[in-house]
Amino acid sequence: MTRSRQLRLGAFMRPVSLHTGAWRYPGSYPDANFNFAHIKSFAQKLEAAKFDAFFMADHLAVLNMPVEALKRSHTVTSFEPFTLLSALAAVTERIGLAATASTTFDEPYHVARRFASLDHISNGRAAWNIVTTSNPDAALNFGLDEHVEHGERYKRAREFYDVVTGLWDSFADNAFIRDRESGIYFDPEKMHVLNHKGDELSVRGPLNIARPVQGWPVIVQAGQSDPGRQLAAETAEVVFCSPRDLDGGKALYADIKGRMQAIGRNPDHLKMLPAAFVVIGDSIEEARTKRLSLDSLVHYDSAIASLSIALGHDASAFDPDAALPKDIPETNASKTGRAQVIKLAQEENLTVRQLAQRYGGYSGLAFVGTPRSIADEMERWLDEEGSDGFNVVFPYLPQGLDDVTTRLVPELQRRGIFRNEYEGMTLREHLGLPRPKNRFFSD
Ligand SMILES: Cc1cc2nc3c(=O)[nH]c(=O)nc-3n(C[C@H](O)[C@H](O)[C@H](O)COP(=O)(O)O)c2cc1C
Repeated sequence: MTRSRQLRLGAFMRPVSLHTGAWRYPGSYPDANFNFAHIKSFAQKLEAAKFDAFFMADHLAVLNMPVEALKRSHTVTSFEPFTLLSALAAVTERIGLAATASTTFDEPYHVARRFASLDHISNGRAAWNIVTTSNPDAALNFGLDEHVEHGERYKRAREFYDVVTGLWDSFADNAFIRDRESGIYFDPEKMHVLNHKGDELSVRGPLNIARPVQGWPVIVQAGQSDPGRQLAAETAEVVFCSPRDLDGGKALYADIKGRMQAIGRNPDHLKMLPAAFVVIGDSIEEARTKRLSLDSLVHYDSAIASLSIALGHDASAFDPDAALPKDIPETNASKTGRAQVIKLAQEENLTVRQLAQRYGGYSGLAFVGTPRSIADEMERWLDEEGSDGFNVVFPYLPQGLDDVTTRLVPELQRRGIFRNEYEGMTLREHLGLPRPKNRFFSD
């Protein structure tokens, strides 16, 4: 039986796993993050499992960490999202294709064109993850000496969104008449020149691409700060977020959907998809063992640095194979971080080494268990409005992805909370989102 509230599932695919040890896990592809044949097969498997979207994060610099840690990271060589998603559009038919583009380091005309093209090439499957770019090193790759200030980045982002969506509306949906008889290709009455001149941006238009198949590609937002949440409430149709637990998920869900209501938007027109790390075993114990074994592949030096950051206290002098000392002083830097570390150490009975490797591997929201126990947790998030679905982070590939597509998805389908077949052709149709009206033309 199909239930009225349905899970939406995205796959977090750049990098193909966010876990630092993923490429070293026995049986995994060490080059999974940078091998087109592998990525093509992942996208096709996700589509066969009816995933809503394949999502590519993007960072305009290598991760800002010391080279001693960077040399162990499989993220250091990743595909550029548009090139990869265009190639994937040609070898898939239904799965949504979400790319990240920065409003700080890109230009709205470029961004509008690339997404419009991807939406046409994929027959209506494109989504734009709007980011303002948090990595300060990106500035150094774009002619700046330091990063643009946070408030300033969000001010530009808001105006950038107006310009991009305005450019997508440059032509009415029926502007292209291509009348051989008269020799008229398009009706000039159905072309709008934007002529945007704002505080941050100046763009004449029109866009040199027909209106996207979806009207506008689906708008995604991943900022978590107050201005980030406000931008999401005003513009986003999907939010990628990273609450640590169900209470955090519920608070964020209520906050963003509440902000939407306050400005007259329908909260159903936005899907909250927290990132969720999923490790599946035949028993909960086996899944936990898999995770510990994956975590153990994180080098101790980088692991201990991550733990120190989380604690707000240098952990390098602690005995790696003992429990966390009881008398770690509280600092102003990270009260919540410290409390979370202590809670995790107690709950899972972890040594300092295991804790450090957890923080150095992947420390966000995780579902570790059997297909049934994980489906129970996902169902609870859905029922209690912690989220509308998840952006799944795989622990290692291909096995971790295969476990999700062949073991977890059938369990979700059996419970009637995930589709057996795509509802339509476009990503908007999969997500149940309306097609935006053209702001300049009525048809
Ligand atoms: C699930 C998720 C995915 C994200 N993907 C990207 C990304 O691809 N590129 C990027 O620059 N930032 C990415 N971010 C970071 C956010 O855009 C944002 O900078 C961060 O959440 C901090 O919020 P703030 O910028 O509102 O302070 C992501 C965040 C989350 C939670």
